[in-house]
Amino acid sequence: MSSKLSTFICQNCGSETSQYFGRCLNCNSWNSIVEEIKSKRSKYQEIKNSKKSIPFNEISSKKISRFTSGFMEFDRVLGGGIVPGSVVLLGGEPGIGKSTIVLQSAGKISLNEKVLYITAEESLEQVKIRWERLNQNSIDLKIFAETNLSLIIEEIKRLNPSFAIIDSIQAIHNHEMESSPGSVSQVRACSSELQNLAKDNNIALLIIGHVTKDGALAGPKTLEHLVDTVINFEGDNISSHRLLRSIKNRFGSTFEIGIFEMLEHGLREIKNPSSVFTNKENISGVTTTITNEGTRPLAVDIQALVNKTFYSNPRRTTTGISINRLHQILAVIEKHVGIKLSEFDCYVATGGGFEINDPSSDLGVAISILSSLKNIPPLANSSFIGELGLSGQVRKSNNLRTKIEEAVRLGIKNIVVPKFEEELNNNFQNLINIKEISNIKEAVDYSLSK
Ligand code: TYD
Ligand code: MG
Repeated sequence: MSSKLSTFICQNCGSETSQYFGRCLNCNSWNSIVEEIKSKRSKYQEIKNSKKSIPFNEISSKKISRFTSGFMEFDRVLGGGIVPGSVVLLGGEPGIGKSTIVLQSAGKISLNEKVLYITAEESLEQVKIRWERLNQNSIDLKIFAETNLSLIIEEIKRLNPSFAIIDSIQAIHNHEMESSPGSVSQVRACSSELQNLAKDNNIALLIIGHVTKDGALAGPKTLEHLVDTVINFEGDNISSHRLLRSIKNRFGSTFEIGIFEMLEHGLREIKNPSSVFTNKENISGVTTTITNEGTRPLAVDIQALVNKTFYSNPRRTTTGISINRLHQILAVIEKHVGIKLSEFDCYVATGGGFEINDPSSDLGVAISILSSLKNIPPLANSSFIGELGLSGQVRKSNNLRTKIEEAVRLGIKNIVVPKFEEELNNNFQNLINIKEISNIKEAVDYSLSK
């Protein structure tokens, strides 16, 4: 007999309480707490008393074998391919292309492996229309349209595929629970049963999850710790570019990105992404920086527009970098270059709106701002790397060597970087002109003189 208990779960952050609150104590959101009745015991999680602890040294070390997702960019984000028995969570806003990428990938994988695509949102006919649009080939690809978790588990067990896809976790439900599909307790319970099933049968499982408006995965933290890899599919409505970004990866490095373009007949991977985010123009207000995303160096343009303000408080807006970072850079310029910026509006945007988290883009932002202010184009065919310290010094950057290599590959002739060890300089002789600087003033004198 299954015992039932009532619990109160915040639909925004997933935190649980034993009584109702109007405001979540964890994430402070209002009216997000919902009472949910859940069954205490899951049918699948039976106690396995055959398992015993073993000495650490007796664990056989297996090399992780992987199979390809059919996309090099997808494999890169996964850390080199799909690991059998692993659970991947693919999140993204509705309409971004999650179903499209997994269906394309399922087709490619099915040429070598047995694949099961479970569609809980679309009918078989709808999937077929998409499939025809994508112009794919398949050999061992099965489609199953179902929303009931027990039936899904039964079908996975019956077929025993190498790779199974659940599209999407919010659309399936465990009929033993009274809460509605998509609620935090349903999402959590369904995911953990599926995860057990995948681990026990060595099936690679990809779970699609929709994100809420503020960018969090529904039932967010609860799912992230369950799965091995969390990947976000990002993009905007204007451009056709899409980014796959790994947020967590037990089998590879995090913050790795893969870049795609959404076309009429599905997604195409972009193998030379630096060309997407740079224009190679030499005009005032534009510089190029090289950031690090996961293990990949990537060239991105930084554009700035500095105008005299008409307001008592100047406007500062950013696209692709954090506004706090801009305020800090402006403060460093005021103090250490001696230019008063309080009378100027300042807008900064990255090429294609690419989100840069690497602090070594600071120098590029600063030079763009000063270049726009002075109306002088920066040093021609150049790139700027370095984090700005609060005392005006240019701090060391991670992976400088790979960044310089990427600049060489792109044909950039001048690169301004923080001071580094001598041996690195010798490696790039004749390939690129490297200017080492130690503070913002030096960088400005070097890059913005007519
Ligand atoms: P979809 O994969 O259904 O998004 P999700 O599963 O994340 O909700 O993608 C739907 C969008 O992609 C839709 O706006 C149409 C567009 N699209 C293309 O541009 N080209 C294509 O070949 C396909 C299949 C979809
Ligand atoms: Mg979909």
